[in-house]
Amino acid sequence: MPHGLRALIEPAWIACVPLALLAGCGLDDFTERSAPYADAPPARVERGRQLLAQYQCGSCHAIPEVPIARADVGPPLTAFGRRSYIAGHLPNGPDLLTRWIVSPSSLVPDTTMPSMGVSAEDARDMAAYLLSLE
Ligand code: HEC
Repeated sequence: MPHGLRALIEPAWIACVPLALLAGCGLDDFTERSAPYADAPPARVERGRQLLAQYQCGSCHAIPEVPIARADVGPPLTAFGRRSYIAGHLPNGPDLLTRWIVSPSSLVPDTTMPSMGVSAEDARDMAAYLLSLE
């Protein structure tokens, strides 16, 4: 690389590192999409676990480590992070799983899972927990 060019690029890169930590430099979008969801911050994963109990998902599902989630009306959510599909045909991942939890029938019109009145933010954390299950 010509010396002049490096002199131009390096300061920009160095300035970008602390900015990136503050979600600057446009890197935030990139990491959101490319990071495996199992790497969601532990606080969000734990919040998701508690929300799964609060919203009583366990009245239909068995979910590991979630108190009183032992029912078998819906499929067990054991090892959900290793599942390829949600409800048999939606590719499993953070975005679709979040949307599924908010409104299952908007993705699969004839599903028997009801909408549980979950906000997108709460659903995102529940998805983080479910995807962390191996
Ligand atoms: C009234 C029972 C009921 C409740 C309550 C319920 N579900 Fe479900 N859930 C189901 C049924 C039935 C299915 C299977 C749906 C299908 O395949 O169309 C399902 C499917 C799922 C799936 C996909 C499972 C798979 O094997 O692909 C996930 C994830 C899920 N539910 C999460 C949740 C979460 C999170 C909550 C709480 C916010 C919740 N469910 C509450 C009945 C329920």
